[in-house]
Amino acid sequence: MSILWYASGFSGMSEREEKSRLFDATDSLVSSDALVLFGATGDLVHKKIFPALYALAKRGILSKPVVGVARQPWSLLQFQQRAEDGIKSSCKIDDRQALIHFLSLLRYVEGDYNDPGVYLAIKQVLADSRRPAHYLAIPPALFATVIKGLGESGLADNARVIVEKPFGRDLASARELNNIAKSVFPEESIFRIDHYLGKEAIMNILYFRFANSFLEPIWNRNCVASVQITLAENFGVESRGEFYESAGCLRDVIQNHLFQIVALLAMEPPAYRGYEAVHIEKAKVFKAMRPLQPEDIVRGQYVGYRDEQRVAKDSDVETFCSLRLFIDSWRWAGVPWYLRSGKFLAATAAEVLIQLKPPPQKLFADSAPENGRANYLRFQLSPRFVIALAARVKRIGKEFVGEQHELDLLYKQSEEDMPYARLLADAMAGYSVLYTRADAIEAAWAVVEPVLKYHESVIPYYPGSWGPEKSDTLIAADGGWFNPKLE
Ligand code: BG6
Repeated sequence: MSILWYASGFSGMSEREEKSRLFDATDSLVSSDALVLFGATGDLVHKKIFPALYALAKRGILSKPVVGVARQPWSLLQFQQRAEDGIKSSCKIDDRQALIHFLSLLRYVEGDYNDPGVYLAIKQVLADSRRPAHYLAIPPALFATVIKGLGESGLADNARVIVEKPFGRDLASARELNNIAKSVFPEESIFRIDHYLGKEAIMNILYFRFANSFLEPIWNRNCVASVQITLAENFGVESRGEFYESAGCLRDVIQNHLFQIVALLAMEPPAYRGYEAVHIEKAKVFKAMRPLQPEDIVRGQYVGYRDEQRVAKDSDVETFCSLRLFIDSWRWAGVPWYLRSGKFLAATAAEVLIQLKPPPQKLFADSAPENGRANYLRFQLSPRFVIALAARVKRIGKEFVGEQHELDLLYKQSEEDMPYARLLADAMAGYSVLYTRADAIEAAWAVVEPVLKYHESVIPYYPGSWGPEKSDTLIAADGGWFNPKLE
């Protein structure tokens, strides 16, 4: 079966058009008739999910009950106020009617996920709903409890489950979680979320690579010297100290968000038109990644992290991580991939640099690499959407000297990008193309597995820096880090 390319969210289609397009894709998909939000009073729901649902309400494609579940003994009114507050703090309320409509869809159930009573209460509130989608915006340690609770109470019947990342905390726990989820839900009803896959700029990587023909001849070990990806944030762990203590940067963003970007950059062309083919090629990339060794990674911790709330005074958890990765495939043999991410760095930005090799002969005195970088391709994913190709051109004059200029193929302020709106709409419609598959997640864990336990202690770094100096040493042989361009 060939699944058509399709992405919901901000496609601008009406609900009817969207449904008919979806049913074009496969006629067996039936929409969920309620959304149950576990972890409804948490940060993620406040910051990302309420604004996303409001965006869907504005587009007229949210008409089903949204049931919040959490431990707090809140009234429905309190829950509605919290929702409104979440929306206001992330976007402008420019459609009062849509807001009122969204708030009217909210329900609230209080309870402990270990208590079977909570699932009965959800059932009562769901009333006539027969095909709910359960979204687990809860600490990973509770995923299994809730999935089992859903199964035992009958709430999993005809239902879907959307599981937040990190999916597991190592290979064994990811496998176990996959087994538990599959013992309760059929695979096509399990949606493992990585919100990066719903981002406009990330989807553009896939499009840019395979909608153009000029890249393919250079997109390999013959022309690419190295690849580097930076995901930097200029703020700390904020109120998420407890979560961070159980995760750290490698588990929080590298094994998932950054690896997904690597997979899109490194994959072979999909063999046919359809996202299933993309999943197949991405999984192969994870399988070809060489498992990391302690000397491939640098772990840092910002000065002040140990004073954050719910953080151990002697914590060895990394808030910064950089690493060197190899993909042992025909295309990428010998090409190092450098990834880095961290909290409290010098900027908030995400950028990819494909560093091309210098010309084989140094015909001009100012040629790379002695005189700066060789040509490169740069994708800024945030705060702007940029795709730029850097090439040297001669300066006017007698001398054969020049400089490197960037040709902007795309240069835009990033627009309101709500990956969660796209992803939740897709999951409720049963459309899983932008979700990650079990085999890919397990293969990605296998890559980081060796360094989860065996690694050097964290190295302190100052907030506002680019992490520990040792991270610069890691990439020194390949021209050093390229800090995201923000001007
Ligand atoms: C989340 C991580 O998955 O991604 C956060 O848990 C991180 O620590 C966030 O800040 C980054 O996402 P975005 O969309 O803000 O780049």
